[in-house]
Amino acid sequence: AIARKVDSLLAIMTLEEKIGQMNQYNGFTDFTGPAPKGGDAERKYEYLRKGYVGSMLNVRGVKNVRAVQKIAVEESRLGIPLIIGFDVIHGYKTMAPIPLAEAASWDMEAIQRSAEVAAAEAAASGINWTFAPMVDISRDARWGRVMEGAGEDPFLGSDIAAARVRGFQGDDLSDPLTIAACAKHWAAYGFAEGGRDYNTSDIGTSTLYNVVFPPFKAAADAGVKTFMNSFNTLNGIPATGDKFLQREILKGKWDFEGFVISDWGSIKEMVDHGFAKDGKEAARLAVTAGSDMDMESDLYVTELAGLVKAGKVDEAMITDAARRILTVKFELGLFEDPYRYCDEAREKEVVYNEKYQEDVLDMARKSIVLLKNKGNLLPLKKQGQKIALIGALADDKSSPLGSWRIASDDGTAVSVKEGMEKYEGNTLTYAKGADVVTGDATFYRELNINETDTSAFAKAVSTARDADVVVMVLGEHGFMSGEGRSRTTLNMPGVQQELLEAVYAVNKNIVLVLNNGRPLVIDWAAENIPTIVEGWHLGSQAGNAIAHVLYGDYNPSGKLPMSFPRNVGQVPIYYNPKSTGRPNNAGDNLVFWSHYGDSENTPLYPFGHGLSYTTFKYSNMAVTPKASGATVKVTVTNTGTVEGKEIVQLYLQDPFASVTRPTRELKGYEAVMLVPGASKEITFELTGEELGFYNNQGEWIVESGDFNVWVGGSSDAKLMKSFELE
Ligand code: IFM
Repeated sequence: AIARKVDSLLAIMTLEEKIGQMNQYNGFTDFTGPAPKGGDAERKYEYLRKGYVGSMLNVRGVKNVRAVQKIAVEESRLGIPLIIGFDVIHGYKTMAPIPLAEAASWDMEAIQRSAEVAAAEAAASGINWTFAPMVDISRDARWGRVMEGAGEDPFLGSDIAAARVRGFQGDDLSDPLTIAACAKHWAAYGFAEGGRDYNTSDIGTSTLYNVVFPPFKAAADAGVKTFMNSFNTLNGIPATGDKFLQREILKGKWDFEGFVISDWGSIKEMVDHGFAKDGKEAARLAVTAGSDMDMESDLYVTELAGLVKAGKVDEAMITDAARRILTVKFELGLFEDPYRYCDEAREKEVVYNEKYQEDVLDMARKSIVLLKNKGNLLPLKKQGQKIALIGALADDKSSPLGSWRIASDDGTAVSVKEGMEKYEGNTLTYAKGADVVTGDATFYRELNINETDTSAFAKAVSTARDADVVVMVLGEHGFMSGEGRSRTTLNMPGVQQELLEAVYAVNKNIVLVLNNGRPLVIDWAAENIPTIVEGWHLGSQAGNAIAHVLYGDYNPSGKLPMSFPRNVGQVPIYYNPKSTGRPNNAGDNLVFWSHYGDSENTPLYPFGHGLSYTTFKYSNMAVTPKASGATVKVTVTNTGTVEGKEIVQLYLQDPFASVTRPTRELKGYEAVMLVPGASKEITFELTGEELGFYNNQGEWIVESGDFNVWVGGSSDAKLMKSFELE
């Protein structure tokens, strides 16, 4: 029915109106005020009235959205409603943990719920399309946008991509509390050379098909309505102008029926890439390659009609792009009621609704990873303890909101200090110690952070000296990761390392709580500090979640979605590299094998690592081969003293194949909650889906022969069996 409606509409649209659907502008004026006079804003406003704008981004709040929608609907010839886009990345007002943190939960239900909450608040504020999920796999913590993804693994990343799409879009896109999702950035943005944002990606077909593509495919299979292409070139072709990516794979092989939006200005940037001679050529290349909507390059609307008239672009491509965009608008219910997402009463009721605090607290607690707990310093005793709380981040109510939080309100997160103050049986003394960044840190100037205050440093050390336990909250401010925030070092910025060492010199009972948007290099801490908690940027309820874990009211179960390197020179590092021809130093080969002379090859903390306040034992592993796969069973027992959740992980290796395979790959996981002493048998079924891979022609193949399987609580699992696939 929608297809017929779209066809009848297309039949009465002029070429310019169809191109208008392909044009997206950033909110260039206050639409509740008078029409702008003069300059670009006047022209853009005029385009809105003419029906030459199909979408706006960064217009939010019912009042504003209603105002801009009114222009499109009441003043343009055909009254086609706008689709309103916004970066709802990990919450709208009520903030969930950053996506990398959520990935540490390995909990698809919770991740889906988190996206549902974000969608509900955004939709109630007039938005009907989010530029999320970011499903870029990345192995490079220098790249600031790792905070926005699901980490390094395509298997986990695919499940998360699908869960987030389901969460945003729900079962019915026309429901006023769901929004269209967008899988981005298509493709290989996470493989930017040197981890420098917007940089070149050059990767081979095996990595492209087996690592980069799967989460996008999972998003497409989950019914994601839109894709966004990426800023980078991939093997020499800007993604925005890449026919292979958009026409051959996405709209061809995968039969994707939604539409593709460019990234911000990425059509225009094809000139800077040295791919298009000028804007006109860039518009032609982008539309020919399959980019349906132009975000802020202002090139489709100014160049495409001329290109069609000159016979350089086939009008059928324009019609196809407009059809795809109009279809999503119909599915969102915008034609039925363009103001469907513009209900002031609903906005009031839904945005910051108290009930969402429960959801983001749940998500935040599930995202915390206990990296180390030597001597069981955690959980903290609840009575009679003198606790020193140290670090600027401990008393920060904005940093936990993380990066990519455009609509959120500063100061709305629960700080760690506030969370810990609720445990009144102990004496809590806070000392800042040092700011996160010191000196003339140009890069972080926007954070408005001051010089080191040496007296604050000394005060922290003396506070720590007298304490039974010192909790230090150190790491990165929320804005130190995200777009454009690449780093060449992965240490704790400023003098935080010095602060940690100075405190350690007077009191060794330290619980280090990390706040960060990416894996950091914490080799000294891992060696010396007894207890380390990965506390990411956990959103609105960060402080409560961390306090609940520190005090044992919540037993942590998160597992790292990204390896922590020992040093930055190991990056890119991931748990499942290829073997190489010289994988070990067997015999007398001390030098000429694939290794570093000054560091181990392995990460400090591997993918999948995460401890609990209890311990788990794995036993009775059994593998039974079947005609087209195998059944793997293992028993997991809680061998500790408290109830806990373990995320049981299965890794597989195809040791000899026509294209070399990684040393192991995650192919299954299951969460199990066990009371002390209890056991559970977990079963994994391995089928062609887990056993196969994409060859260099992009074909899925399953090869017979030997397979190795490991089961355990991290990618370092040791329990192993082999089987043969006939
Ligand atoms: O959605 C984002 C994208 O990820 C990076 N460039 C800007 C877009 C819109 O804000």
